[in-house]
Amino acid sequence: VPILHNCTIVQHTNMILIILLDVSDALYKQWIPNTNFENATNWNKKRVPCATDRVYFDSNMKVSVFVQSSHSITEMYIPSEGEFILGPDAGFAASDEKSDSGCEGGEDVTFNDPDQYQWYDPRFWNAAVSTDDLYDEKYLFSVDEEKVPCQYDDVIFPPETSFRVNVSSSVESIDLRTISLMEKKFTRNDDFVQYMKSDRAKLQFHGQGSITVTNVRCKDKSGCECGNTANHERICSALLQHFGNKCPEVVCRNPLTPIGHCCGICGAIVSLQYSSGFELEKYRNRIIHLLLNLPKYAGVQMAMSKVYKLQSFLGILSPEAHPEIQIVLLDNKTGSQTGSVAKQLANEIMADIKHYGDAYGIVKGEILLATGSNASGSMYVGEIVGIVVGVLSLFLIGGVVFLFISGVISYPPYPRLPSLSLRRYTIKNDEVDAFGGPIDKGFDNPIFDVPSNGQSGSYNPYSGEDVLKGITVTQTGVHFVNPAYDETDISA
Ligand SMILES: *[C@@H]1O[C@H](CO)[C@@H](O)[C@H](O)[C@H]1NC(C)=O
Ligand SMILES: *[C@@H]1O[C@H](CO)[C@@H](O)[C@H](O)[C@H]1NC(C)=O
Ligand SMILES: *[C@@H]1O[C@H](CO)[C@@H](O)[C@H](O)[C@H]1NC(C)=O
Ligand SMILES: *[C@@H]1O[C@H](CO)[C@@H](O)[C@H](O)[C@H]1NC(C)=O
Repeated sequence: VPILHNCTIVQHTNMILIILLDVSDALYKQWIPNTNFENATNWNKKRVPCATDRVYFDSNMKVSVFVQSSHSITEMYIPSEGEFILGPDAGFAASDEKSDSGCEGGEDVTFNDPDQYQWYDPRFWNAAVSTDDLYDEKYLFSVDEEKVPCQYDDVIFPPETSFRVNVSSSVESIDLRTISLMEKKFTRNDDFVQYMKSDRAKLQFHGQGSITVTNVRCKDKSGCECGNTANHERICSALLQHFGNKCPEVVCRNPLTPIGHCCGICGAIVSLQYSSGFELEKYRNRIIHLLLNLPKYAGVQMAMSKVYKLQSFLGILSPEAHPEIQIVLLDNKTGSQTGSVAKQLANEIMADIKHYGDAYGIVKGEILLATGSNASGSMYVGEIVGIVVGVLSLFLIGGVVFLFISGVISYPPYPRLPSLSLRRYTIKNDEVDAFGGPIDKGFDNPIFDVPSNGQSGSYNPYSGEDVLKGITVTQTGVHFVNPAYDETDISA
C-alpha cells in the first residue's frame, strides 16, 4: 500500500517548450543534472522502477520530481516535503500484478540524494552561443571558471525537467542576466524574488547563496570579465572531487595554467593586448572561420575570453589587475604528439596577428606552448616558448597612405568592391547573432567556401608576399582583406 503524506502532486497541463530567440552577445548556460523520475541515474539500481518494485524516497529528502510518463507501482514511500510534477501523459497507477513484462522487479529502488549537485561545479553546465546551439548540442569550450554561469549569461534549466541545486557561493549574490526554468523566463529581479518564495523554488534551490536577475548585458565590445574569480576555489574543489582531489596527470613536463582554469594543461595559450578598436566577438568569429573550422583543426578546442591578469611583484599581488584576451588551445593528440596541433594553430594565430592584428585592434600577442614532444636536442619532455609579436601599425598605415598618394590604391566604385566578401563578413557580424555560425559549418558565407576549391592545401595565406594587395580603401574606411580570400586569386 503506498504511503502518501503531505506531498503536493501538481498536474502540469500546459508544458510549453520555450524558445528564446533574442540575439545577444552573452552565452547561454544550461544546467545538466535533473531529478526526473525517468532518469535511470537518479535511482540506486541505475534503472527506473517498474511495477513490482518498492519505490523509496528518503522521508527527509527535499525534492521536486518531474514525471514524464505513466507508471504502475505497487508501493511507493515518498518524502515529507516534496512534489511530483506530472507531465501531460504522466501518472501513477496502482498495480497488483506480480510480474510485468520486461520487468524483473521485486526490488527496493531508492531515489538518490539530490543534494549533491553544486551550482559551482563546472561539469554540470553546458555553454552555447544560442538556444539553437544548445538544442543541437553545439557546446562551447571554456576555462573552468567560465563553464559556470558568468554575470552576463542567460541561465537555462531545461523545460520538462526538475532539479535541485546547491547555490552556496562566496559572493553575496550570483548575478545573471536572465534565468529560465520550467516554462518561464525571468528577466526582472522582482519576479524572480517572488518566485524564490514559492514552495517549488525552495525544493529547487538550497544552500547559502542567492541569485539576482540583472537583465544587464555586457556593454563592452572588447568583452566582459566572467566574474567567477571569487569562487575559483569552490569551482576547482567541486571539479577535483571527481578526480580524487588532485589534478589529472598530463604528459607535458611544464603544463600551462590558463587564468580561470583549475589544472595545468598541455597545449597553447595566446595572450593578446588590445586597443580601443578591439571587438571580442568579431575577432573570435574571425579565428573560428579562418582557422578553427579548417579540417586539420577538427580536434582542437578553443576558449577565448577577457581575463584579468594579476601582476605580482616579489610575491605580492598588485591591486591593479590588467585585462587581456586569453586564447586557450587544447588538442586531442596523445603521447609525444600532445599539443602539437594546438601549437600549430597558435602559430597561425600569431602570424595572422602580425599581418592583420592592427585591423582588429590587437596591439601585442604573446604565445606560451607546452607540448608532449622533446624540444629538439634538449632534455625537455615539455616545452615552453615565449614569443612576443608587436604589431607594426605605423608601418601598415604609413604604407597605405604612401600607396594611396602614389596612386597604387584608388577608390574602387562602391558597388563593385573587390572586398565584397569582407563586406559581407562584416555585415554578418553586426546583424546576425555575432557568434552565430562558428561551429555551424553550414554558415552560408561565400568566403568560407574557398578551402574546398582544392587550392587551400598549397596556398599559404601568410606568405606575406602580397599583403598590401588585400587592402582596399572605401568611402567608409580602410579594409584589410585576407589575400587568401581575394576573389581574383580564386579565379586565377
Ligand atoms: C540524468 O541525470 C544525470 C545526473 O543528474 C544527468 O547527467 C543526465 O544528463 C540525465 N539524463 C537525462 C537523459 O536526462
Ligand atoms: C551546499 O554546499 C556547501 C558547500 O558549497 C556545503 O557546505 C553544504 O553542506 C551543501 N549543502 C547541502 C545540503 O549539501
Ligand atoms: C581528434 O578529433 C578528430 C576530430 O573530431 C578526430 O577525427 C580524431 O579521431 C580525434 N583523435 C583522437 C586521438 O581522438
Ligand atoms: C624524449 O626524450 C627521452 C629521453 O630524453 C627519450 O627516451 C624519448 O624517446 C624522447 N621522445 C621523443 C618523442 O623524442
